[in-house]
Amino acid sequence: DDVDQAVSTGLLPGWDRVDEHVAAAYERSRENHDGVVADYIPALAAVDPALFGVSVIEVDGGTHVAGDADVAFSVQSISKAFVYALVCEELGHDAVRERVGVNNTGLAFNSVVAIELNDGHPMNPMVNAGALATTAMVPGSPDEQWDAIHAGLSRFAGRTLVLDEEVYASEVRTNQRNRAIARLLESYGRIQTDPARVVDTYTRQCSLLVTARDLAVMGATLADGGVNPVTGERVVSPAVCRDTLAVLAANGLYERSGEWLFEIGLPGKSGVAGGIVTIAPGKAGIGTFAPRLDAAGNSVRGQRATAYLSRVLGLNVF
Ligand code: DON
Repeated sequence: DDVDQAVSTGLLPGWDRVDEHVAAAYERSRENHDGVVADYIPALAAVDPALFGVSVIEVDGGTHVAGDADVAFSVQSISKAFVYALVCEELGHDAVRERVGVNNTGLAFNSVVAIELNDGHPMNPMVNAGALATTAMVPGSPDEQWDAIHAGLSRFAGRTLVLDEEVYASEVRTNQRNRAIARLLESYGRIQTDPARVVDTYTRQCSLLVTARDLAVMGATLADGGVNPVTGERVVSPAVCRDTLAVLAANGLYERSGEWLFEIGLPGKSGVAGGIVTIAPGKAGIGTFAPRLDAAGNSVRGQRATAYLSRVLGLNVF
């Protein structure tokens, strides 16, 4: 397999040659052309499917990149992980667990059926229902909520993130399902503020632009117990990182979360624009970007590159 091949060509597993491992992960995964670019948000369909970037940031700040690691794309569902962490930091473990839950739905990220099957419970913060319920829990008015999310995600990334106005406008025109989910959650008492404003804030958080390098920094912050290894700033507590990583392990790749954990053995989170963030606790964050997705909405090349890095760097936590 890939790792045995790497060993046989003299590229030994381990941390001493991370640049070479990142370059190899990029080269090997670039040959894959499976999957399709998301088109249910029209602005995403226009992206160049050949784009591909890989980045590893170590908890000591060591930085490794290959390919299009500085090309910006919308963070999409990956925002859910970091908004969840920010809300846990504000409100604590129990409040979020009770309102939003931690268990996998086994169903698609935008499933309405999952809500109905669970008596109106959103199930977990990584599916759209739970993410909407989580965003609704951010303290303050809608404007204050957005400011807190924007500032918080920017602290994870170590720079001020910018909103992609075109992606935002495109999703606002086509997010009827998210509006329905928010209304449904309101009917079950799981959202207690204006559901239209909650969807708007959630759509904004999804439209923030990041790069593979940013994702690696954001992941490295969770790997580092909540301290951004590039800026040195504490963003969340170690306990919040533990909660977030547990939720990601169970739910980060939706109904494929089991397969991901089986193959890669690390908490991760995908987004439909093609990003994946992966966290190797105590070691590093991995960020990948490649727009072609599998049927569950997870980047194909990103999964392959991350699997390669997990194996060659010995990152599987099991
Ligand atoms: O709410 C949506 O449908 C998008 N803003 C985000 C979905 C997403 O990224 C699912 N990921 N794989």
